[in-house]
Amino acid sequence: MSRELTVIACLSLAGGQGKTTFVTLMGKVLAAAGYTVLLVDGDPQSNLTTFLGHEVAADEPTLLELFKGNVELEDAIYPTKIKNLYLIPSDDGLDNVQEYLSGSGVGAMLLKKRLAAAQGSFDICLIDSPPQRSQICKSVIGAAEQIIIPCEATVKGFGSLVRTIDAINELKEVGASSAEILGVIPFRDKWVGSNQTKESRDAIAAMATVVEQAMILPSIRESEKFKQAISREQTLEELGVPELGYPFEMLLKRLESKEVVAA
Ligand SMILES: Nc1ncnc2c1ncn2[C@@H]1O[C@H](COP(=O)(O)OP(=O)(O)OP(=O)(O)O)[C@@H](O)[C@H]1O
Ligand SMILES: [Mg+2]
Repeated sequence: MSRELTVIACLSLAGGQGKTTFVTLMGKVLAAAGYTVLLVDGDPQSNLTTFLGHEVAADEPTLLELFKGNVELEDAIYPTKIKNLYLIPSDDGLDNVQEYLSGSGVGAMLLKKRLAAAQGSFDICLIDSPPQRSQICKSVIGAAEQIIIPCEATVKGFGSLVRTIDAINELKEVGASSAEILGVIPFRDKWVGSNQTKESRDAIAAMATVVEQAMILPSIRESEKFKQAISREQTLEELGVPELGYPFEMLLKRLESKEVVAA
């Protein structure tokens, strides 16, 4: 059966904004909902590869070889332990692609071109990106049809949102991106009992001055449970905290209602 592929990038231009945590858990939620999902580790730190328990062997093709056109797409895709969930892994060697991309002259178009062959085999491709405004980051923006921006509910997170929107607009201006921003997810939203902290509230209010209020999606709460869910390879439900999975379930509903993915 032929499938319509949607490419979604998770992007935020600062460290520790929840990109890799989001991609890991959202990938699992989408796979559990029956979608065939391809995750792409676009960060030389390769935390996504680690979070999915994948170890890159010495002679194994990764995103680097795919970028360079040395292998076909299917040779760089590996199954994970989870049904319907596949990975294009990376390791720190991915840093070597920066020079290749800037030398190619069409770096911003390259990932889109390489992922085109996933059409027909996958429903959703979800890309994790590096925190810097690098050549890889430009290629991720160029490949994306939709962009999700997680941002810590702090002054730093607000700065990351501003930089991320700026980077997307820069590529749009030169015609290298036609991505839509799907939404902003406040990350590590802190609550004490039933009260949101002032820092979180103020940071999320500031985010709503940069994008429309409707673009601010339900936040990911500050909790050690997310780290545990990833390290123990359990779902938030299995950890006894299903309520923390609310932002992921809501995003799934939004993707289906906006017909970004077929319900
Ligand atoms: N809900 C949460 N509450 C508190 N800490 C969290 C939560 N989710 C994840 N973390 C921790 O926050 C840190 C940053 O998360 P993550 O690695 O997903 O961010 P990132 O944007 O991918 O970072 P980088 O830019 O370095 O790749 C990690 O140490 C992670 O374990
Ligand atoms: Mg990361």
